[in-house]
Amino acid sequence: MTKRIFQAIVIITVLGMITPRGYSQEHPASKDSLNRKWWKEAIVYQIYPRSFKDNNGDGIGDLKGIISKLDYIKSLGIDVVWLNPIYSSPNDDNGYDVSDYRNIMKDFGTMDDFDALLKGLHDRGIKLVMDLVVNHSSDEHEWFKQSRSSRTNPYRDYYHWWNAEQGKPPYRYSLFDVNHDAWRYDSLTNAYYLHYFSRKQPDLNWENPKVRTEVFDMMKFWADKGIDGFRLDAFQFAAKDTTFPGFPPGFEKHFSKYYAMQGNLHGYLQEMNKEVLSKYNVMSVAEGAGNTPEDAHNLVDADRHELNMAYAFEGVDIAKRGGYSLLHFKEVFSRWHSTFAEKGWLSIFLANHDQARLVSRFGNDSPQFREASAKMLATFLMTMRGTPYYYNGDELGMTNAGFDKIGDFRDVQTLNEYKHQQSIGADMSKYMHQIAFESRDNARTPFQWDGTANAGFTTGTPWIQVNKNYTSINASAEEKDPNSVLNYFRKIVKFRKDNLVLVYGKYKLLDKDNPDTYSYTRELDGKKLLVMLNFTNKNAATHTGIDMGKTKMLIGNYEHPSDNDTLRAYEAVIFELK
Ligand code: BGC
Ligand code: CA
Repeated sequence: MTKRIFQAIVIITVLGMITPRGYSQEHPASKDSLNRKWWKEAIVYQIYPRSFKDNNGDGIGDLKGIISKLDYIKSLGIDVVWLNPIYSSPNDDNGYDVSDYRNIMKDFGTMDDFDALLKGLHDRGIKLVMDLVVNHSSDEHEWFKQSRSSRTNPYRDYYHWWNAEQGKPPYRYSLFDVNHDAWRYDSLTNAYYLHYFSRKQPDLNWENPKVRTEVFDMMKFWADKGIDGFRLDAFQFAAKDTTFPGFPPGFEKHFSKYYAMQGNLHGYLQEMNKEVLSKYNVMSVAEGAGNTPEDAHNLVDADRHELNMAYAFEGVDIAKRGGYSLLHFKEVFSRWHSTFAEKGWLSIFLANHDQARLVSRFGNDSPQFREASAKMLATFLMTMRGTPYYYNGDELGMTNAGFDKIGDFRDVQTLNEYKHQQSIGADMSKYMHQIAFESRDNARTPFQWDGTANAGFTTGTPWIQVNKNYTSINASAEEKDPNSVLNYFRKIVKFRKDNLVLVYGKYKLLDKDNPDTYSYTRELDGKKLLVMLNFTNKNAATHTGIDMGKTKMLIGNYEHPSDNDTLRAYEAVIFELK
């Protein structure tokens, strides 16, 4: 069974062998020694434009829709919006196949709408980070049209071609292709082109200096408009060994080892930093961070002048269909923390548009525990060291889609894998179970604004079905309820913003072997907070060794939070140590 993309991009190999660097107990962080940056102190809210709010009734979310919800976005207390791609695209992969990097996708609106959105965000003190999708373009991009037209076209070398008279190229695994073959034969010039993702996403050739110049100019175009950052999509795969050596059989099970951080990747990033990033007050985040914490460090070590923060998958990949072990969870987050304690910076997240819903995967989406567990997870994400990323809808505790027919799904990866499984005679009911839990579409159903038709997302027919639970789970109902997931989210966001210790403070894991609860302290300049989280649906005791008589309860996800070391189901409490 082929694994999902992000399970596969997981960073497992040598992690355990690496000794935590510079995690010093003796020198707790101090405010004066901090290298303070706005992007370290920010909370990022991710918007999936296609599913956020439709303004013109065509069933597809759009920029005007986002503009109409700016006050809601502001009310969350977040500082940065990260928008998934909004550039012109034939939408083979919902915008991750860009056909014009300097224009807005027709479904989403116009450049005027974009300018209004940017201004609307900035007027409210919110920054905007854009997706930068340059490992590949769309096959409908003018560069690719030129490139495939003849072997001598000046754009030929913008992509990777393998002439067929050399025989078949060495196998390369494709994540989204129906056959998982990353080489696609094109009879027009009797050659194969490379696509790590779908056939409609040919990989750009970063060895070509013209490609790099085009990309850097395009980045300047957006930075000159005043955007505040770039999220580098799949960029860890951008550099390739273009002699295309054979890889060992079965390499696709560990393809990240062969695809990530190859060749001159760091050189390209240093050039990007010199040409673009260093010239603007923008943040940059690497999606995927190689195969080891060392790889991740090398992307974001400030002395190397590459990117600002890593976005690594090991944490998000822990949750599987059958659940996950909290001990494993604690070990992974503690290890990543310790290797970044002194240098570099991490993103903290458990969900995005490529994963199933936060509460369905990491919490408990049953009616009894959905709210408590969603709030508990928010508490975790807002109290770790690193920049928190929160995916739209998770602040309401939105749940998985509940689709059980293949016709309900829209995602290219899910649909192509369905065809692939069929072609190899796989047990399709097993596949349906798998995607019910894992498909990326789980997180892509329309945002649930209210209890009216289609959850108030559209007056038309939504491009993907609304989750049936929208009549009870929606923003409007949650606004009115002081104890809703939404209102707790606002509270815990504000709590993080008010406590610099949660951004920079030293993290220390307590009660390490407790399989039910996660407890840690954060400490900065003499201020010490204790966070206690119950990850189970039962009462659970913690054994932190801290005298609870010497603590003061500050905030919790229950109406009357616990003031001692026993937590109720999915309870989260933060104390100050006196
Ligand atoms: C994005 C996916 C996308 C893929 C190809 C990923 O990293 O997050 O949504 O399908 O890159 O661009
Ligand atoms: Ca629309």
